[in-house]
Amino acid sequence: MEQKIRRIGILTSGGDAPGMNAAVRAAVRTCLMNKVIPVGIRRGYQGLIHADVTEMNARSVNGIIHRGGTILYTARSEDFMTEAGQHRAAQTCRYLGLDAVICIGGDGTFRGALALSKQGVKVMGIPATIDNDIGCSHYTIGFDTAANTAVEAIDKLADTMQSHERVSVVEVMGRHAGHLAVYVGVAVGATSIIIPEFPYSFEHDVIEKIREGRMHDKHHHLIIVAEGVGKCDEICHRISEETGLEARVSIIGYIQRGGAPTARDRVMASRMGHYAVEQLLAGQTNQVVCYRDSHIVLTPIEEALEMKKSLDAYMYRVAGDIAL
Ligand code: F6P
Repeated sequence: MEQKIRRIGILTSGGDAPGMNAAVRAAVRTCLMNKVIPVGIRRGYQGLIHADVTEMNARSVNGIIHRGGTILYTARSEDFMTEAGQHRAAQTCRYLGLDAVICIGGDGTFRGALALSKQGVKVMGIPATIDNDIGCSHYTIGFDTAANTAVEAIDKLADTMQSHERVSVVEVMGRHAGHLAVYVGVAVGATSIIIPEFPYSFEHDVIEKIREGRMHDKHHHLIIVAEGVGKCDEICHRISEETGLEARVSIIGYIQRGGAPTARDRVMASRMGHYAVEQLLAGQTNQVVCYRDSHIVLTPIEEALEMKKSLDAYMYRVAGDIAL
């Protein structure tokens, strides 16, 4: 017979994302509503290894729905990458009487959850990363806030760049993925978007676009570069050399990972946190909570890790077609 779930551990791991707190809050409150004890695990898997935990109640998650970051702290644990570390984490779960663990984060977090499940611990993943690069889910918590933060910053930048008739080369986050760059690029009307997924020709995709823009009386050109491509200084230098225009680099950086989550992120996080607990109580384990075609669904963790999210090529084309 299925063992009854009485205590659920909750952790956040990897790069933080705005909305993680809202997910923690939803999971805690849904536990309490179902007479399950929620146990906050601090500093991700590292905290799990060292039993760095705190029992939570309704008050522990008061006033956090609108706060960025994560009240549980986060970490990338080297110890947990070893078999010995995973074994110790599972032992801690048994010692603390955790019947399941909700793991909130991105790809690395789910890899950790899979390792934990192989040690006999029931897990449930919730996708939260500003990169929106989780294959099984059309949306990840934090993406909307990060995109809006970047758009707000670039709009301000555009004002001054326009006055000086300069070219802006702007780096947005995304070490391995260009989803954020493309989305932000469309939203700010970028002249060109350079991402790791697609090869680009500097001459064709940057210089010619700027020249075309100038022929159409454009006075400011915005080049969005995903962090994974980098080389912004080099791009900037070459633009100046080849066009004779003044160019400046701006790296938005970690600001994109902070700040109050947007309504979309709060709502998505609340739904996912609630769903994760309900599904565990319904007997589901070793799954990732996913958002697909307007529904919250589950995908087995192993399958989820195999799924790759391809870049929205149509969105990328839209950006190019309406750039002038
Ligand atoms: O959270 C995802 C992400 O923001 C990536 O876009 C970025 O490359 C990475 O995290 C950087 O995180 P850190 O410097 O904390 O390792």
